[in-house]
Amino acid sequence: MTHDQQTVCRRRLRQLQTQLEPAGVDAFLLHTGPSLRYYCGFTGDSSYLVVRPGEAVFCTDGRYTTQAAGELPPEIEIRLLTPGNGLARQLAAFAPRRLGVEEQSLPVARSRQLQQEISGLEIVFCQQRITAPRQRKDAGELQEIRRAVAVAEEAYRAARPLLRPGISEREIALELEYQMKRRGAERTAFDLIVASGYRAALPHGLAADKPLAPGDPVTIDFGACCRGYHSDQTCTLFLGEPDREQRQVYEVLFQAQQTGMAAAQTGMAAKELDRTVREVINQAGYGEFFSHGTGHGVGLEIHEAPSISAASDQQLAAGMVFTVEPGCYFPHRWGIRLEDMVVLEEDGARRLTTLDKRLDQAIVD
Ligand code: CO
Repeated sequence: MTHDQQTVCRRRLRQLQTQLEPAGVDAFLLHTGPSLRYYCGFTGDSSYLVVRPGEAVFCTDGRYTTQAAGELPPEIEIRLLTPGNGLARQLAAFAPRRLGVEEQSLPVARSRQLQQEISGLEIVFCQQRITAPRQRKDAGELQEIRRAVAVAEEAYRAARPLLRPGISEREIALELEYQMKRRGAERTAFDLIVASGYRAALPHGLAADKPLAPGDPVTIDFGACCRGYHSDQTCTLFLGEPDREQRQVYEVLFQAQQTGMAAAQTGMAAKELDRTVREVINQAGYGEFFSHGTGHGVGLEIHEAPSISAASDQQLAAGMVFTVEPGCYFPHRWGIRLEDMVVLEEDGARRLTTLDKRLDQAIVD
């Protein structure tokens, strides 16, 4: 880990420590990969960071001690977890009464075990407090996200010439994955979606053995994960001329996306952005076929805050990175989705993804 990255982690940790008192806890227990990477630079898993006033202690097992020593700022103490000296024992040494956790992914069994082994321990839900700072990306994070976008787009350009009738969705997905990894992605950002023809009506239709057929719309939802940061983008292509209805829906979705990206601004309620995008599709008469939210934050996780949906209570702020991805799905027939990533700046949203999604670019002949 570079000196700069260590400095960034120290600053984030100090900031998190100021949250101990307002949360009313003696310590935060961080265990998710994104949190560990964000707060101490660790890139492995199966480990814990105990954040207390004035110190942070890292607990891991024998598989990760060498790696942690190379990645963490040197002042963070590394303790070895062994079968006889597990997390509960290590934690008990601090005699915490109230422990703040990332409740959405801490296994219930683990939580119960901690309470059984540390008498009187109260588990406090602190996920929101721990993850909130990640919503607004700093310059270093934006650079990593741009790289994840570039790697995915280069892979897409390399794989696109394979699109023709007869090739299977799975082969397209494999080629995309191969091309991303060749370009330095540690993995794909999620299981790639290549859904053609009637399968394009499945918003999350994972690539299957179905061969592409002439006239098929093909939805390709893809992204790369580079140094922990994700990208996410969806193109819909047509193998041959789209019919009149497909053209119309495509243009409506394109317009909805443009409208959304132009409307996004700091201080806006996320649900208001969702409403703005949805309104374009409603006006065109296709509202009932847009069956999911408008977008989601992207960063160390592929889906993270803020959620851009009717249920969201979040406000947009500078530095947020999120998707704008309206889609329409006609069960058993076909579907179209267009997705871009933007970063919100003081004067509005700037597109991070760069592929040209105008309809004439989407026709493969
Ligand atoms: Co997405």
